[in-house]
Amino acid sequence: MAPATFAVRVPPDIPRTGFARDVIAGLTATPKRIPPKYFYDETGCRLFEQITQQPEYYLTRTEIALLEAHAAEIAALLPPGAALIEFGMGNSVKGRILLRAATRLAAYVPVDIAEKTLMREAESVARDFPHLTVAPVVADFAMAFELPAAVRGLPLAGFFPGSTIGNLEPHEACAFLRRAGRLLGPGAILIVGVDLIKDASILNAAYNDAAGVTAAFNLNLLQRINRELGANFRLECFEHHAFFNRQLNRVEMHLASLKRQKVRVDGETIDFRAGETIHTENSYKYTLDSFRALARGADWKPLTAWTDERGYFAVHALQREESPSVAAH
Ligand code: AVI
Repeated sequence: MAPATFAVRVPPDIPRTGFARDVIAGLTATPKRIPPKYFYDETGCRLFEQITQQPEYYLTRTEIALLEAHAAEIAALLPPGAALIEFGMGNSVKGRILLRAATRLAAYVPVDIAEKTLMREAESVARDFPHLTVAPVVADFAMAFELPAAVRGLPLAGFFPGSTIGNLEPHEACAFLRRAGRLLGPGAILIVGVDLIKDASILNAAYNDAAGVTAAFNLNLLQRINRELGANFRLECFEHHAFFNRQLNRVEMHLASLKRQKVRVDGETIDFRAGETIHTENSYKYTLDSFRALARGADWKPLTAWTDERGYFAVHALQREESPSVAAH
């Protein structure tokens, strides 16, 4: 029988009230925007999985190869008997690489806002690693959350793969690192996957795959708003745009209105000019040094970084300073 897996939900009502409020605020702002965390309904999670398998989307396969190649070195940094907290789990493929190598870990705490996927993955990890306490937390990893009682008192280590940190604005990434530092405690290890700055043609291809999966992922946001907020977006009247912004070192994703149009969303009328866009995601890219500087600014000491031969992706090992500076963000 599969071990029981209980989720803690923090706070209990994020998906509904938060979604409507953020969408209306974003669509009535100038320029229009919607936070990328709302991509991940069930369809969005499925489409994201498909993105990771596209030939142009090098991030996932490069990071997995790095984790596999360096799993033993990473495992050696994690304290025996620790709980590994995975921020923004998605699927468990990367976490499993560390769990297989770090055989002395006592617990695994995946944290994600996508409840169904989180629970399914957590249950399957609990089945495959019966010696581990698996305690999933349904929460937005970018906000403060409490650890489950089952892991209180254990040493903690963090894992934040996928370059999800790139979907945060740099000041949010800094705030996230500080919060993670407070949660994990002095001396803790944090392993972070970060996509590296590279030729624009490679980045543009990665976010404009030939099969159109990234376009479908972006447009699914409008479908979700239609379904959950009773809106009347016509998907054929919007187009996926993604491009590398060299000045800001980020790939931007937008949904561009193909014509002048009005859309009803949750009782509001939203006007679009032809060509006006909804900015749906930034995916920041770093150099090894610019990420190290960000980490240092949040009281993490860079220990090591592993990169692939082409220099496409980096896995950083950071250690929380023993006595962090007093800046309280
Ligand atoms: C989850 N995140 C790191 C992905 C990225 O590359 O920024 C999301 C994504 N957006 C478009 N393709 C993939």
